[in-house]
Amino acid sequence: MGSHEITLQINGEERSVHARNTDTLLYVLREKLGLTGAKPGCLNGDCGACTIDVDGQPMKSCLMLAVEAMNKKVTTIEGLQNAPIQTQFIEKFAFQCGYCTPGFIMNCHSLIQQHPNATDTVIKDWLESNICRCTGYKEIEEAIKATLRNVQQYRS
Ligand code: FES
Ligand code: FES
Repeated sequence: MGSHEITLQINGEERSVHARNTDTLLYVLREKLGLTGAKPGCLNGDCGACTIDVDGQPMKSCLMLAVEAMNKKVTTIEGLQNAPIQTQFIEKFAFQCGYCTPGFIMNCHSLIQQHPNATDTVIKDWLESNICRCTGYKEIEEAIKATLRNVQQYRS
């Protein structure tokens, strides 16, 4: 199957790339654009390792075709500069091998943007979209809560 050129808005830049209609966004990000922060895990929408942000929403990039991302704003972990949640993941030791971490950070970043007053229930609901096989979810929850506290202090 032939490929054709598509233009994507990624991390604030316009990137042109050759892609087939069947190429997933995850594949194009990693293999064509060298943005390897989004990780391949299950490739069927269960693990969340490939999570990125599309137009302000967390999106599993293994479930989206690259052509579907045209005319949308895509942010990957490489474009998430100095987000407070990243600092808190480090402070709370919220990772071990780190394979799942970019996907978790992207998802948690969206959670904090959309729910600055998130309750425990909201946090648990959001974390269900990502799987970590080697660290506890407790540290990740602590990183989210510390970030939320800082956001609330900043606003008050
Ligand atoms: S690789 Fe996309 S959800 Fe698992
Ligand atoms: S830190 Fe290893 S899979 Fe999550």
